[in-house]
Amino acid sequence: MARARFITLDGMDGAGKSTNLAVIKDWFEANRLPVLFTREPGGTALGEALRGLLLDPATRCGLRSETLLMFAARQEHLAQVILPALQKGIHVVSDRFTDATFAYQGGGRGVPAADIEILENWVQGGLRPDLTLLLDVPTEIAIQRVAAVREKDRFEQEEAAFFGRVRQAYLDRAAAAPERYAVIRSDLPPEDVCRQVEQALVQAFSDWWAV
Ligand code: TMP
Repeated sequence: MARARFITLDGMDGAGKSTNLAVIKDWFEANRLPVLFTREPGGTALGEALRGLLLDPATRCGLRSETLLMFAARQEHLAQVILPALQKGIHVVSDRFTDATFAYQGGGRGVPAADIEILENWVQGGLRPDLTLLLDVPTEIAIQRVAAVREKDRFEQEEAAFFGRVRQAYLDRAAAAPERYAVIRSDLPPEDVCRQVEQALVQAFSDWWAV
């Protein structure tokens, strides 16, 4: 049997993750593939508790602590959820993963990428996503979408320049490893966005049906 795939969905707040998660769910269902959907920070009891703290606007937290807490949640998520599923042949789709740390704590807050890489190697060993669907929209559109929808969490409250840096960090990572990323323009008409997502999934599974 071919190896189960680890797929992540990432991008700025307001880039359209919820809509596209629904597209991804439909695609897995239509193709009758076993899949587990999960999210970061979160996915375990400890991870969800850390998520509550990390997203709470009342939390005061330094750069390094914030980065370490993201990786603490990730360590649990990998050990309890992601790796066991992959080992059982179940595909995993995670709503955010380590690209978010490089983008938010790295690009947004200024933690050196080299420091994040140390934690990435420590926690993940050699594991990297097979495919990262990176949703991209102009920063102003993302900010407008977040403002329109709900009460803002600790990250969403950041200023526009922060989100500009987050977006750039995501795009830089995708440009540096284009074989792992599908950059999805998510401000196009819904059917075009849906087609881009489905094409990326078909490509990621191209050898799956052949085996
Ligand atoms: P979301 O899942 O609703 O998008 O909220 C998660 C927030 O946490 C989002 O603003 C991005 C942020 N985040 C980081 O800053 N670093 C990380 O490593 C992860 C996974 C998320």
